[in-house]
Amino acid sequence: MDIRFSGGIGTRIELIAGEITRVVEDAKGAVAIKLGIGKVEETDGRKLVSLARKVVRTAREHKLKEIALSLKDFSFPQNRISDRELGRILGENFEMAGYEFTRYKTKKEPEVETIFVSKASTEAEVGFKEGQLIGREINYARDLANTPGGDMTPSILAEAAKRQFKGTSVKVEVLNLSALKKLKMGLVLGVAKGSAEEPKFIIAEYWGTGKPRRFGRGPDSKTSGEKPIVLVGKGITFDTGGINLKPTDSLMGMNQDMTGGATVLATVAIAAKLKLKKNIIALVPTVENAVSGSAYRPGDVLTAMNGTTVEVLNTDAEGRLILADALTYAKRYNPRLVVDVATLTGAAITVVGKRASVIMTRDQNLENTLRDLGEKSGDYVWPLPLWKEYEADLKSNVADIANVSGGASAKSGAGAIQGGMFLLPFASTFPLWAHIDIAPRMESIPEDMLARGATGTPVRLLVRLIESF
Ligand code: BES
Ligand code: MN
Ligand code: ZN
Repeated sequence: MDIRFSGGIGTRIELIAGEITRVVEDAKGAVAIKLGIGKVEETDGRKLVSLARKVVRTAREHKLKEIALSLKDFSFPQNRISDRELGRILGENFEMAGYEFTRYKTKKEPEVETIFVSKASTEAEVGFKEGQLIGREINYARDLANTPGGDMTPSILAEAAKRQFKGTSVKVEVLNLSALKKLKMGLVLGVAKGSAEEPKFIIAEYWGTGKPRRFGRGPDSKTSGEKPIVLVGKGITFDTGGINLKPTDSLMGMNQDMTGGATVLATVAIAAKLKLKKNIIALVPTVENAVSGSAYRPGDVLTAMNGTTVEVLNTDAEGRLILADALTYAKRYNPRLVVDVATLTGAAITVVGKRASVIMTRDQNLENTLRDLGEKSGDYVWPLPLWKEYEADLKSNVADIANVSGGASAKSGAGAIQGGMFLLPFASTFPLWAHIDIAPRMESIPEDMLARGATGTPVRLLVRLIESF
């Protein structure tokens, strides 16, 4: 999609108060669409996101290739946001709403090709461009997530990451099976056992302020940038559940279980392309959780990279296993902040439905920041506790810790929290850590006004987080 700031020739779309959308023709035969947006005085930041999407979805419905807009239509007194941010939200959401997953369609629907925007300030134009760039990377992540499991293996994800960073200053490294064995990543290797596909560990480093002198990988005397932010993303390319096989209805969509990985990679790509003065690292352990004669079993004990022994009570709680080893790996960067992103639990959907992701952190300021930026970005999040009492849930009879409750403990019912509590000890040395369970936002709902399938959550939130940190 192209956004241009010259007065265009496309069909005009105007936002008007009220519910009714109508197509009008003036005396000269020029057609315009008056898009009913409800009560103007109720148009807050949240509604702005859906209005932007509604414009593009309406244009698609009318099979319009070119549309013309006035930015004034989107400025409501209730927004209270800068021109830059307004432009960015529109840019992001125009791109996101224009996206369809067409890889396997032999006949393609017409798309909105150009949006002409008139009366934009310089600030708004800058925001638009940023928003478009962000939206495009989000759509790239959605493409990866929407790709069926048969065509999205750990190796293919690693290759896609390399392609994504071509032409940027991001350094990509992919660890293969023998490297993972050398590192003793027992949790990643355990989950990978059942699959014919080799596990990989994708590392993408963007040093926007240069490497700090001591960042754990040997001294670097030439530069002395700040400590990095490390983003860890779950990269399960298909989650069958393993021997604790998922029932039929739960299997569909499990090709998207690498959304966390795809979104942290997208965030690093955005940081590099916007040339942010930040150091950002993405770590993506990527594995297929398959079922076969060589698969890990319920009751197996795995040894994590940091030496912790883990009793696998359920092979379907695989995400926390691979993330734990990635958190251990993150320590070598001496990060100032670590955020992990994962489609971790169906239980998170039970908590908030499909309208927000769930966050867990023991830092009140970080929790507040995430909530605030969630609100501003449209990637809404809501907190759950990581109280010490929950430690009892993951007691194991035979190992240091179990991957779910119900072993030495009673089944606790706190499914989403158990995911966070499992990760907590692996993140204990970081000054700041947050866990984002994006399972609720993995797939779109009709009210999102996005294509069916992957949403690309929480890239918009992560970008704003790293900018503000
Ligand atoms: N990938 C799933 C979680 C999931 C479910 C994501 C639905 C998106 C939509 C995860 O690996 C999983 O299987 N979690 C289990 C945990 C349980 C075994 C403790 C779950 O949610 O049932
Ligand atoms: Mn699972
Ligand atoms: Zn999973």
